[in-house]
Amino acid sequence: MKKNSLITFTALIVLSFFSCKENETITSVEVTEPEYEGAELSLEFDQKIDSLIALMTLEEKVGMLHGNTLFTTAAVERLGIPKLQIADGPLGIREELEINSWTPLGLDDDFATYYPAGAGLSATWNTDLAYAFGNGVGEEARARNKDILLSPAINIIRTPLGGRTYEYFTEDPFLNKKMTVPFVKGIQKNNVAACVKHYAANNQETNRNIVDVQIDERTLREIYLPAYKAAVTEANAYSLMGAYNKFRGDYLCENDYMLNTVLRDEWDFKGIIVSDWAAVHSTVKSLKNGLDIEMGTPKPFDEFYLAQPLIDSAKTGKISDTEIDKHVKRILRLMYNLKMMEGQTNRVKGSISTEAHFKDAYNIAAESVVLLKNEQNLLPLQTNNIKSIAVIGDNATKKNSLGGFGAGVKTKREVTPLEGLQNRFPESVKINYAQGYLERYSKTFETQFGDVTVNKPETIDELDPKLLEEAVEAAKNSDVAVLFVGSNRDYESEASDRKDLELPFGQEALIEAVLAVNPNTVVVMIAGAPFDINEIKEQASTLVWSWFNGSEGGNALADVLLGNVNPSGRLPWTMPKKLEDSPAHATNSFPGNETLTYDEGILVGYRWFDTKNIEPLYPFGYGLSYTTFEFSNLKTDKPSYTENDMIQVSFSIKNTGNMDGKEVAQLYITDSESSVEKAAQELKGFKKVMVKSGSTVNVTILLPAKELAYYDVSKKDWVVEPGAYKLKIGKSSRDIVAETTVSIE
Ligand code: BGC
Repeated sequence: MKKNSLITFTALIVLSFFSCKENETITSVEVTEPEYEGAELSLEFDQKIDSLIALMTLEEKVGMLHGNTLFTTAAVERLGIPKLQIADGPLGIREELEINSWTPLGLDDDFATYYPAGAGLSATWNTDLAYAFGNGVGEEARARNKDILLSPAINIIRTPLGGRTYEYFTEDPFLNKKMTVPFVKGIQKNNVAACVKHYAANNQETNRNIVDVQIDERTLREIYLPAYKAAVTEANAYSLMGAYNKFRGDYLCENDYMLNTVLRDEWDFKGIIVSDWAAVHSTVKSLKNGLDIEMGTPKPFDEFYLAQPLIDSAKTGKISDTEIDKHVKRILRLMYNLKMMEGQTNRVKGSISTEAHFKDAYNIAAESVVLLKNEQNLLPLQTNNIKSIAVIGDNATKKNSLGGFGAGVKTKREVTPLEGLQNRFPESVKINYAQGYLERYSKTFETQFGDVTVNKPETIDELDPKLLEEAVEAAKNSDVAVLFVGSNRDYESEASDRKDLELPFGQEALIEAVLAVNPNTVVVMIAGAPFDINEIKEQASTLVWSWFNGSEGGNALADVLLGNVNPSGRLPWTMPKKLEDSPAHATNSFPGNETLTYDEGILVGYRWFDTKNIEPLYPFGYGLSYTTFEFSNLKTDKPSYTENDMIQVSFSIKNTGNMDGKEVAQLYITDSESSVEKAAQELKGFKKVMVKSGSTVNVTILLPAKELAYYDVSKKDWVVEPGAYKLKIGKSSRDIVAETTVSIE
């Protein structure tokens, strides 16, 4: 059994200030792993649990192993065992639904804070915000009396077309794990279990219920598993969700290798595996191979594989009592750790829709916005010079807390971009709003949602001439135009992938028409996934990217546009010039049919673009600021290391512009002398640092030499090869500003 070998560092932020030249301050920031408070999964209750199990009937035990409503399992009241109350999801706590359908109950006490979707969170590159997010949803889950939160969703972005790209974090395994760990800890600090999903290799929606994913072992370990591993070994995740798809021939919810060998034997996972909704396909096989709870979409709950069929299998000797007890024990262990059991006290009570949570949602949104282009310095908008502003586009007023298939949030607050500008602009500025385009759909096509078939609409991509004319008029008659375009959560949605990267609803023509009449136009894309914005990049001087950005998204965006907040978001994935440049598409290995081999192997995301020398439209890690930063003095504490050492990488960042701002220092490594295939470079460290205008910050990133390892399939272990490694500091994956070399003995 291999234990996690990563060393945990104590939080240590050394700040020392001293004056240099006039007005110049130098601050030193030693960047270590911040210590976020989480929860352990204690085994101290195990004996008590064994005695309790001895009192249970077969029916009572089985009742705990499957859903008896859409989001609960059965209680055993006579023994003081409560039901498990489960809630979606990644954007915050979902509203209450009927017990046997997806219809909302329409209650008036199930409102929650709508948090920015996953892609927005990871665009902050700020682990403190991931922790605040996790903690916030943990508190809200408790306030709604939930035990398990189906979050975070951390599948790797393999294709830009993925329907859930907006919900997931990133294409990069390092950024993924660094955001996942604090997120999970934040949730679990509140006596709520995180359910990290969707384990694993669920990187597309197309055919998700049948596709058999083939990934070579090294790629699996290096790209698709690190964040799950870190969730288990570093954050002690209490539960994981088994995905819909198959992996190497077996469904994830009955996959002995993934559930027993990797998760339990190697990572020493002591928590529970909950199936995705209707992702189970067998009784005995599922249970034996590691699944603990079967959840599902509406149908008679007794018919679930782990319901009556399990009772029958036990009675006919197809499965032993010992096997059933093992799973019940895991669930009871989780319940004791969450302080759910009768007689346990001091469980966190939580709080919901508080100003503190809205503030966290605001902070995340504010740091997630990515400035892509600002050639005329139109941004930040100078309110004293502006008398009128045209606000154009359906996305100026579109709300995204609900919409599409899958988990959203019913919230009392969702500030739209238009409202954000109205809130922040002085009243003297006239806002001329024009909708510009309509979100319109024609015929529908069928797609699977769990075992339910749903209809997905196809877009109408023509503009309404009258709306176009209104938009052009508004733009003509205003000093500045801000176009809010992109997509929304009806269009980017679970259960299907997008068919291409085109902007829907005729938006491209609208953008062109507005740009033609007002050169002072800011184009703001609101979307969760890459789109083909080649033409827009070409034609517009000013381009901003925002996300499905939570309750305070509109205020945060307005603050960025007005310069109250200096943008500091960085792309968490590569924006390709064309779809065929992306690895899954270049290798023609998307979406597959019944089987799908990930032919690009380890070269996912920027690893592919950089290794194959393909120019992206915007690279991974990219994002501008209203100020400028200069890096200098890159050095390491020693020239050579052994694999157990910590490499101290230090450098200085000077803010050479006129506004305070945050820079994201990104540390990439290149293995110059590898005996195996390696990507041209890999992210192995990052730090977001506030640098005041005119000041310099000295930063030290601690890089464990172990991070330089690759997964050696024959040894079934991680290997750090001796030799030279380049350490590069960049502002993005394509803007490396300094490099140095170290050697590993
Ligand atoms: C999704 C999960 C979600 C579950 C329950 C499934 O369709 O894949 O992410 O948690 O439904 O709503």
